[in-house]
Amino acid sequence: MNINEVFTLRNRIINGETIYEMSKLKPESIDLIFADPPYFMQTSGVLNRVEGTQFHGCDDDWDKFTSLADYEAFSRNWLTQCRRLLKPSGSIWVIGSMQCIYILGSVMQSLGFWIINDIVWHKTNPTPNFTGSRLNNSHETLIWAVRDKRAKFTFHYKTAKFINGGKQLGSVWRFPVCSGNERLKDSEGRKLHTTQKPQALIERVLLISSNMGDIILDPFGGTMTTAAAAKKLGRQYIMIERDKDYCVHGQRRLDAVEFVDSDEARAVFDVKPVRVTMQEMIQAGAFTVGESFTLKDGTHSATLLEDGKLSYNGGIIDMHTCAARAKGLRAERVNGFDFWYVMRNGELVSINTVRENYRRMMILQ
Ligand SMILES: C[S@@+](CC[C@H](N)C(=O)[O-])C[C@H]1O[C@@H](n2cnc3c(N)ncnc32)[C@H](O)[C@@H]1O
Repeated sequence: MNINEVFTLRNRIINGETIYEMSKLKPESIDLIFADPPYFMQTSGVLNRVEGTQFHGCDDDWDKFTSLADYEAFSRNWLTQCRRLLKPSGSIWVIGSMQCIYILGSVMQSLGFWIINDIVWHKTNPTPNFTGSRLNNSHETLIWAVRDKRAKFTFHYKTAKFINGGKQLGSVWRFPVCSGNERLKDSEGRKLHTTQKPQALIERVLLISSNMGDIILDPFGGTMTTAAAAKKLGRQYIMIERDKDYCVHGQRRLDAVEFVDSDEARAVFDVKPVRVTMQEMIQAGAFTVGESFTLKDGTHSATLLEDGKLSYNGGIIDMHTCAARAKGLRAERVNGFDFWYVMRNGELVSINTVRENYRRMMILQ
């Protein structure tokens, strides 16, 4: 296998040391990076709940560094690799908590990354502060950045708006922490990984900043949440993780994931409408020669001809001029798609809707 070929590594988990493995990949070969690096939490990891049970936070070996300088040097090395691997139009998301996000952001800026947004992941069910000694820590931060200021990156603005119920999507995202069935368990039934991220959070990242078929790299794979999101949304992935056990469980998780097609996954809201002609739609069966075009109230019937024109009041004219005449407007021409209706399943339907459905069908083919 040619180790430089990103192609051969697509949809694979690489079990190895991330900086070394990234150094083997081709420059400018990755569309999007989602990185959830060690936090350098510096805690003992065990906290006592009020009722006496123990909560196990993150005190894993992979989160240990000798000093802040050591952590910063590690961060600089892997982020340097990320910058080398990103396509000029690619972007990177880095998630972290208060312990590490400032160092990560500072290193990113010093390497030349240009920050697009920082997003607050507001945890709707955070771990309580058991001792009541400080505020309950209920968020993490995601930094979204590009290689440099001039980079033209993917952002599906309308898709983001759609998934936010029609309102412009802001930079505070509310998601619960990963729990219940979503949480991977080890053979003893304990949680496999201390910091498994909710898949919905990463799905949102992929939906708004990547396209179908894009290659997504996650240099700190863990339970392979990024790959699960990528596979579900029709993206490709390259995952790197040094812990063999996480890789094995992660692969099992991925084997059970199936692609789910949707308008959001294809970002159809952000795709510029393709130009389609009446003749093309007639040929495809979206309209039928000889059918009636009427105004919204069902009056002023015109007949559709083979070349897409309308037969109206004894003459043959294009549908835009015809619409202006039927409406009795002063303008010589208007957009016929705003005025004409056809009968579908016993109801009058705008020809614009018929055209939109046709476009959608074309995109999904
Ligand atoms: C914060 S966790 C990622 C969790 C992941 N996002 C998920 O949802 O499961 C960081 C992961 O990086 C891995 N890791 C840490 N240092 C690494 C390194 N130098 N090379 C490869 N993997 C590393 C750890 O084993 C750990 O699973």
